[in-house]
Amino acid sequence: MAYRSISWSFSFVVVLVFCIGPAVALLNPIIPGWNPDPSIVRVGADYFIATSTFEYFPGHPIYHSKNLVDWKLIGHGLNRPSQLSLLGTPSDAGVWAPTLRYHKGTFYLASTTRYVYTSELRLFPRSFYVTTNDIFSNKWSDPIYLDSLGYDADLFWDTNGDVYSTWSGNNNAIEKIYGIWQSKIDIITGNSLTPAVNIFHGTLPNTAAARPEGPHVYLINSTYYLLIAEGGTGADHRATIQRGPSPSGPWENNPKNPILFNGANLTNPVQDTGHADFVQGVDGRWWGVALGVRPQNGDFNHIQLGRETFLFPVTWESGWPVFNAGKPISEHIEGVLQDKSPLESYLNDFTSRTLDPSFYFIRNPYKPFHTLRAGALQLNANSYALGDRDSAALIVRKQMSYQETFETSLSFVPTNNLTEAGISIYYGDMLHNEIGITGDSNGGSNRFIVVRTIVQAKQVGPWALTTANATVITTRYVSLSSPDTPVRLTIVGNSTSYALGYAEGADKEFTFPATIDSSALSIAPTGGFFFKGAAFGAYNTGNGKPSLVPADFGYWKQVPGVGKKLGAGDRR
Ligand SMILES: *[C@@H]1O[C@H](CO)[C@@H](O)[C@H](O)[C@H]1NC(C)=O
Ligand SMILES: *[C@@H]1O[C@H](CO)[C@@H](O)[C@H](O)[C@H]1NC(C)=O
Ligand SMILES: *[C@@H]1O[C@H](CO)[C@@H](O)[C@H](O)[C@H]1NC(C)=O
Ligand SMILES: *[C@@H]1O[C@H](CO)[C@@H](O)[C@H](O)[C@H]1NC(C)=O
Ligand SMILES: *[C@@H]1O[C@H](CO)[C@@H](O)[C@H](O)[C@H]1NC(C)=O
Repeated sequence: MAYRSISWSFSFVVVLVFCIGPAVALLNPIIPGWNPDPSIVRVGADYFIATSTFEYFPGHPIYHSKNLVDWKLIGHGLNRPSQLSLLGTPSDAGVWAPTLRYHKGTFYLASTTRYVYTSELRLFPRSFYVTTNDIFSNKWSDPIYLDSLGYDADLFWDTNGDVYSTWSGNNNAIEKIYGIWQSKIDIITGNSLTPAVNIFHGTLPNTAAARPEGPHVYLINSTYYLLIAEGGTGADHRATIQRGPSPSGPWENNPKNPILFNGANLTNPVQDTGHADFVQGVDGRWWGVALGVRPQNGDFNHIQLGRETFLFPVTWESGWPVFNAGKPISEHIEGVLQDKSPLESYLNDFTSRTLDPSFYFIRNPYKPFHTLRAGALQLNANSYALGDRDSAALIVRKQMSYQETFETSLSFVPTNNLTEAGISIYYGDMLHNEIGITGDSNGGSNRFIVVRTIVQAKQVGPWALTTANATVITTRYVSLSSPDTPVRLTIVGNSTSYALGYAEGADKEFTFPATIDSSALSIAPTGGFFFKGAAFGAYNTGNGKPSLVPADFGYWKQVPGVGKKLGAGDRR
């Protein structure tokens, strides 16, 4: 998939584990692992998708494909602190829903960074855009800020040269009505040229939970279209479309709305679909992308991979687009495209001098803390722990398959019980589970495996996002026999749980001191949100004090499909 054809300069080996037969079928998600709010654009024979990254850095991955099936990560739109400074940004705030567009030789990535967004205080942000003339260069401009307050900004060029910015917001003090708002802008400065106007209220009753979001404006065959997301981020999420004689309406409602909605049948294997964008393919056929989740065992509390990117065919009927022939989006769409993607493992032996772009920091590092040296990723600790709303010495890579095993080996000689390094199945600072190595409270040379798990009591409800009502943090210690042997660490994920294990030495069997229910990584933490998904991480911390002890991770292995017999169409 996304990493199969990554260029030779990255040091890792792709192992083909399983080949699927040549059935003509589209296998979803096209970009597995959490990748919400996809925006797609085609330029010539090349397709590009951008998705959301919240408090992870760098922000907005850009994926490239020539066939809509094989996607490769080519970089990130926001990859410098001058574009994105996330220090202190709450979990699930940060970088939201992009719009990726192309106009006369320039790519535009419209984006929103939410700096003030907690359950207590949500200040509307100013959206912005960055530009590049060479999307493969990974060099984008600094942000050009828009004037209005809101999020999910879209950019649209009319035939007469007018540029419209369209976003989701409300009129704050006056009516508290959520809606789709719009201004004409100066595309050089981002300045508004016309007052912000509420151009649409959505098709659902106007409540905060159903608020219209994610607008995209299109001009297709002389008709303007306004595609939006509605219904909140849970099972009521949907896409609806309007058409009209101008980029601002007045709008005619599509009688077939919603044009994308999986929530009419809560046993559909894909749920929460919405936040769509669509594009005409190089052969004239049309294609849409949207986010969706895959509840495991039909349970909305097991969606630990979060919201992934799905593709579907778009046809036309009476001047209206029809998404996926009016049917719910599925993992296996028959009769369109040729899926050639095998299951893949990811193995990085850290012999390259740079990390490939599939790794993320949580917020910006204050200064570099990782070094690549002959066959190891070395992390220097800082004082922050993984539960701090700050920038711990932590590097993560998204989990891409519900059945997936992460493994590394760790050389680490702690000097006391504050120095600690290990691996994590990580969601955010409020949800993370570690297995690592720590030292002796007396400063002696004894080493311990430390296992820290965060388990939440959940309020069960399939319709809206579930929220935790209680959180239990458990820490356990197990003695290690050697003061300095490398220890292999592993996290084995299946549809409903994660097992955290270790083995002293290169060829010992793993021991699993903890297994957690993956619902702990699937529901919003108390006072928080659930917009992302799980990632595997490697960390080194002084737990509140500087630590001089480096941690050397010998390799990074993510193997999908372990412990499960795979059927056709079940590749990840
Ligand atoms: C646009 O108009 C052309 C010419 O009438 C027609 O062939 C084409 O199907 C139309 N496209 C859409 C998306 O309606
Ligand atoms: C709901 O979806 C499930 C799984 O796709 C399917 O088996 C079932 O027939 C659907 N039910 C209805 C009423 O359409
Ligand atoms: C760590 O060691 C100190 C003594 O150096 C001790 O007071 C403290 O309780 C220990 N903490 C843990 C979690 O073992
Ligand atoms: C949390 O919710 C669960 C399920 O509704 C319930 O059983 C439990 O008592 C609740 N716990 C607290 C602390 O409210
Ligand atoms: C997942 O793994 C756990 C052990 O880690 C095991 O108890 C459980 O049966 C497994 N579930 C499935 C669906 O494979």
